[in-house]
Amino acid sequence: MAPLDDDALDLIIREARSHNGWQDKPVTDDVLRQLYDIVKMGSTSMNSCPGRFVFIKSDEARARLKPCLAPLNVNKVLSAPVTVIIAYDQAFYRQMPKLFAHNPNAAAMFENNAELAATSAFRNGTLQGAYLMIAARALGLDVGPMSGFNNKICDETFFAGTSIRSNFLCSLGYGDTDKLFQRLPRLDFDEACELI
Ligand SMILES: Cc1cc2nc3c(=O)[nH]c(=O)nc-3n(C[C@H](O)[C@H](O)[C@H](O)COP(=O)(O)O)c2cc1C
Repeated sequence: MAPLDDDALDLIIREARSHNGWQDKPVTDDVLRQLYDIVKMGSTSMNSCPGRFVFIKSDEARARLKPCLAPLNVNKVLSAPVTVIIAYDQAFYRQMPKLFAHNPNAAAMFENNAELAATSAFRNGTLQGAYLMIAARALGLDVGPMSGFNNKICDETFFAGTSIRSNFLCSLGYGDTDKLFQRLPRLDFDEACELI
């Protein structure tokens, strides 16, 4: 396959921004299903797929999310057409008989090692969150990722009695470029990378 051209690279990451304000333009459920169909194909270790995604669209669900948010983030999140709770299932290994069927010992490996299960769930769930951000932009959406919220309240509100835990939030929609913050610098190659 040919590498992406400059326009595609700009769209998914180089010129893409973290959005704080949103146009009054809905995101259809069909687009959210397309989005998950891309995200689910991203690689995870042992195909564990621990990411779980709660798409908050209704006023009722937004009202439940509001008490979880840091004060400065309330308007940003509540004005978005959709905010997804990017979460992970700590007991993801229960799905291993489907996801890693050729190895019947896979589930037990995690079931008997809580530290390995927790590390794997968080690592791979976070990767799936990043896949979601890139995939959303590839579909023409803008994203507003956010960790300024109370995970504990969020988990009690949305995941009580389950093995699912929130990681971060990501608003989705069509961004209002007037509300962007100034672009911040990044580390240069020599500051962040080594060739050894
Ligand atoms: C996981 C994650 C959590 C973030 N949490 C917040 C947040 O709580 N509040 C906020 O205003 N921005 C938040 N941001 C946005 C970052 O500040 C932003 O991505 C960064 O400054 C780079 O901006 P740019 O993508 O527009 O270049 C978060 C970004 C990520 C990826």
